[in-house]
Amino acid sequence: MITINKTIIISNRLPVKITEQNGEYILRPSEGGLATGLGSVYKDGNNIWIGWPGIEVPPERQAEVTDKLAELNLVPVFLTAEEINLYYEGFSNEVLWPTFHYLATYANFDQTYWNFYKSVNEKFKQAVIDNILDGDTVWVHDYQLLMLPYLIRTEKPNITIGFFQHIPFPSYEIFRLIPWREELISGMLGADLLGFHTFDDVRHFLSAASRLSSGKLQDNIILYKDRQVVVEAFPMGIDYEKFERLTTHEKVARHSATFKKSQKNLKIILSIDRLDYSKGIIQRLQAMELLLQLHPHLIEKISLFMVVVPSRDTVPKYRELRDNIDQLVGNINSRFRTLSWTPIHYFYRSFSVEFLSALYSISDVCLVTPMRDGMNLVSKEYVASRTNNDGVLVLSEMAGASKELNDALIVNPNNIGDIMRAIVQAIDMPLDEQQLRMSSMRHIVKKFNIHLWVKNFMDKLKEVKEMQQSLLAK
Ligand code: G6P
Repeated sequence: MITINKTIIISNRLPVKITEQNGEYILRPSEGGLATGLGSVYKDGNNIWIGWPGIEVPPERQAEVTDKLAELNLVPVFLTAEEINLYYEGFSNEVLWPTFHYLATYANFDQTYWNFYKSVNEKFKQAVIDNILDGDTVWVHDYQLLMLPYLIRTEKPNITIGFFQHIPFPSYEIFRLIPWREELISGMLGADLLGFHTFDDVRHFLSAASRLSSGKLQDNIILYKDRQVVVEAFPMGIDYEKFERLTTHEKVARHSATFKKSQKNLKIILSIDRLDYSKGIIQRLQAMELLLQLHPHLIEKISLFMVVVPSRDTVPKYRELRDNIDQLVGNINSRFRTLSWTPIHYFYRSFSVEFLSALYSISDVCLVTPMRDGMNLVSKEYVASRTNNDGVLVLSEMAGASKELNDALIVNPNNIGDIMRAIVQAIDMPLDEQQLRMSSMRHIVKKFNIHLWVKNFMDKLKEVKEMQQSLLAK
């Protein structure tokens, strides 16, 4: 009998949006970068993607949802309301998310959260075990599933396991604050290959792992329990061709024309983020306020289009942030607006990719100023959408993308004056300088795209496994 080995991808969320309409579940494939990039993997042959469908499905309707997902090679892990509350909102987003983004003072180190984090990771493990055969490869994604590599390894010692973390890995001095730090490290060390966006994340992980486990460090390899765990940086890219192609889409052209008509002679500054305190939205608004105060000649000459996509709004810190943004936007607009001009156009909603592409196309400046960000794909999407090579990217040095896109205007997001000066420099930048910078960034974003990222990770995982097997054979 010939068995063809498969790849199993696992992430907290499945790459699909499920909504309930008139009592029926409707599935819409996600447009997200990871979903696109991994599309070539999970849609192929008998490969699958395991994850949470994103909503609470009552037990009597789970078979129906499972069948619908199976048509797309997707396998659900259903979570109860309590699990969503304590594992997802609780441990993942009130402990790991703030701590890994250097905001440990926002963390709530609650023992119940940890208990649920472990039991839900067990639940994901069970879904893997139910679907796995010897010889398969597992690729686990992100901080919601840090225990999973270890849990799978315990039951399937020889299986190939890759793990990629999409958010930063903090320095040891921050990571050590977590009460369950040793367990989390040994959870991750169950993998054969651990990937992060940047070399700094790799360094931080190696430092934490060598202090908090029995593993011995040898360059970027940890010798742990008779195995070799390789740790490497894989900076994630985007689907460059898709964003380039979108700019010529008829819908995008229509949106762009409408914008241009309504914003004649204005320089447009753009920002697009998920609602999150790690994104530096408040500081960005403060920089705009300072700019309007210190450079009154720019009144009626510039506008900020700020898109904030609703996210995690059941977590208290996110609700608080939303209120603060509402208030600050209101203050700035009421202070500076004129009869014919609004300084900040604030949208709290999600938009189609065509609408976003139109925004990228019409914006003279894109402001990406997170306090911390694993990579930040918006910065790369803006670059890919600038087919005329013009436009200026203002980018936080705390975003992983700043390691690659060093022709952006790089700012410290904590320095409001620095952001303000970069906006002024961007607005005044001569076209030839814009083109020089943008074309060099476009070259990088085009080359290191999402497809190469997937290939590099999968190739390395295969290489690591072969190396381990040849060592065992000796
Ligand atoms: C970040 C994380 C992802 C997460 C996404 C959206 O990009 O790295 O793991 O899926 O945010 O957040 P959500 O909590 O809605 O899944």
